[in-house]
Amino acid sequence: MNTSEFLFITKDKAIDSASFTWQTPSNIALVKYWGKSDPQIPKNASISFTLNNCHTTTKINFSKINKVEKADFELYFEGKKKDDFKPKIAKFFERIQEYCPYILEYKMEIHSENSFPHSSGIASSASGMSAIAMCLLSLEKELSPEITTEHFNKKASFLARLGSGSASRSIEGPLVVWGEHPEIKGSSDLFGVKFPYKVHPIFEDYQDAILLVDKGEKQVSSTVGHNLMHDHPYAENRFKQANENLSKLSKILQSGDMKQFINLVESEALTLHAMMLTSNPYFILMKPNTLEIINQIWKYREENDSNICFTLDAGANVHVLYPASEKEAINQFIKNTLAAYCQKNQYICDKSGYGAKIL
Ligand code: PMV
Repeated sequence: MNTSEFLFITKDKAIDSASFTWQTPSNIALVKYWGKSDPQIPKNASISFTLNNCHTTTKINFSKINKVEKADFELYFEGKKKDDFKPKIAKFFERIQEYCPYILEYKMEIHSENSFPHSSGIASSASGMSAIAMCLLSLEKELSPEITTEHFNKKASFLARLGSGSASRSIEGPLVVWGEHPEIKGSSDLFGVKFPYKVHPIFEDYQDAILLVDKGEKQVSSTVGHNLMHDHPYAENRFKQANENLSKLSKILQSGDMKQFINLVESEALTLHAMMLTSNPYFILMKPNTLEIINQIWKYREENDSNICFTLDAGANVHVLYPASEKEAINQFIKNTLAAYCQKNQYICDKSGYGAKIL
């Protein structure tokens, strides 16, 4: 695996202090990543829609210090010092200091906030880690102005991956592939790439309503879940199936065959949870209302000849996916029927988006 292109070599300028703010989105996988080897190398390729409204905004103030051994940083989340998030970020900095040695020469004050409600069950690691990676790349570009936009995004995705695998898919949009795959040109295990082929117009502005079924802490973290794939009896077949599903989905995204899209996306969601059900120890992240919602979606689809479908993350929340042309009718259905299955009737209307923005 060649990671040398991500090493930091030149330093043209001396910068005493700098501050950058980036807004980076969450993403929702259509073909799921579940299972990895060190260092954050996925066992299969995955693809996701980048979201638009669910994002993290992170500002990092950098001030020059004498070189230290371990990254020196403070972390503020929604205005308050947040020491319990620090170990994860410290580990991230440790992993990336080989590629960003300059982080040891700055004191970093990190201010972060999410657009989605705190502890909504929406994974914030993808948007959170990608936002930090973008701020670091902004400093890197100040130090070495010659780096290209292409390298900037590639390295940001490479760094974000080392924080949280799915974060590698949160730099660009609207569709990003992470993991080497023979049919996806330019794809890599090291970073995410934009889906390289022309997508059928039905997938433009694709809608995703996130139904907040359970906002509590997950009983099993994704780190533990990924690890349980190591001795999993169905793991090898699952990794093979995911790569085959990505081949199929690549064609579906180009042809616009909605029946096949729905079948593949829902099967991926249920297979992800089937891997959890058949892990040892086994676990269940879905809740009764997750299943109620799935049944209601199937009923609505049948009765209305609709293209509505669902996917799931590693949690109980349901992502309802639908084309922009069905937005009005399905938003009514969600409001009138599905909201009742959500905690405090809460859901978030989102759609596919275009990735990170500097503020
Ligand atoms: O990036 P992680 O380690 O939190 O894993 C995310 C895994 C899933 O969200 C369940 C699937 C995916 O591909 O995003």
